[in-house]
Amino acid sequence: MKAASVIDYRELARARLPKFLFEYIDGGSYAEVTLRRNITDLEAVALRQRVLRDVSKIDLTTTLFGQNFSMPVALAPIGLAGMNARRGERQAVRAAEKAGIPFILSTVSACPLAEVAKAAAKPFWFQLYMIRDRGFMKDLLAEAAAIGCPTLVFTVDMPVPGSRYRDYRSGLAGAPGLMGSLRRMGQAILHPRWAWDVGICGRPHALGNVAPVLGKNTGLEDFFAWMRNNFEPNVGWHDIEWIRSQWKGSIVIKGILDRQDARLALEAGADGIVVSNHGGRQLDGTLSSARALPPIADEVGGRMTILADGGIRSGLDVVRMLALGANGVMLGRAWAYALAAGGEKAITHMLGLMRAEMNVAMALTGTTRIAEINPSIIHEIRGAA
Ligand code: GLV
Repeated sequence: MKAASVIDYRELARARLPKFLFEYIDGGSYAEVTLRRNITDLEAVALRQRVLRDVSKIDLTTTLFGQNFSMPVALAPIGLAGMNARRGERQAVRAAEKAGIPFILSTVSACPLAEVAKAAAKPFWFQLYMIRDRGFMKDLLAEAAAIGCPTLVFTVDMPVPGSRYRDYRSGLAGAPGLMGSLRRMGQAILHPRWAWDVGICGRPHALGNVAPVLGKNTGLEDFFAWMRNNFEPNVGWHDIEWIRSQWKGSIVIKGILDRQDARLALEAGADGIVVSNHGGRQLDGTLSSARALPPIADEVGGRMTILADGGIRSGLDVVRMLALGANGVMLGRAWAYALAAGGEKAITHMLGLMRAEMNVAMALTGTTRIAEINPSIIHEIRGAA
């Protein structure tokens, strides 16, 4: 099958990945209400079709945190995504560079900072969680700064991880020890291409940045236990000050869904926020990003950079998110699916699809520059109060 859309890449990923990896990327928390809403609420945004405008030259370029990019799209930080193909984050950073967009390395990536830096020709962004061991955080921040990461994405919507039932069903979580390993091995054997590419040729499988603190406990259950025990639930706005004291570059707070929190982020001195519900993986039933965005843009728009993620499956969705008030978007699952389907080449192709779809959406709404995309191009948001 040749992929013509992100939806196709999802199906290819489903076929290529062992079940536990596909379900980890694809799934959300609890009943996955928010996961679904992220998609349906974006689909509910009906843009105004405008005609007889000169749309012969469409310019997708933009500036985010002082850097110029070819389009307002970034590859979101995704834990474990590097396991979807051989040394996956190395491939993803190269695809992002080629496309002229930011790549954001997750704290819990498969490849560590130094390895990704070696593969990259330009600086990429780094994502960090609040971790109990501040010394470890300090070291990671120092390492990211030393390799030239200009922007830190600080994730705040995971003081505790949401329960993802699919991970229990697939054997990724809740099946400790030998039984869990055997189950996952069985799934890997059923996917020989992945087993060869990643399982055998993609070693080591340690979780790059966290490997030094995991020590000899390198199993997947060790990693999840570390996450449960080391993510810091005692986190407050004063911690942003602490992060600021450790980080000279731009700070983007990821996981804002409420206008009051957006204002607090502005007051705390953040350079930007990501309107996000963690891809529907945390508080199930909460607002979709598409519904959360307009009041947040109303509150802080123009005074800080607003990025958004959640439910973006096409370039049309990117334009919808920008029309709702975002300055840029992050793609999460979209690149993880493409990576699984065909590595760097497939991510490059998927980003080309996004770009082409953005071009069409802009041409048909009569917009030719990113700055022209605003709420005035929305006809209605179906079902909105
Ligand atoms: C990590 O951020 C996850 O959503 O699993």
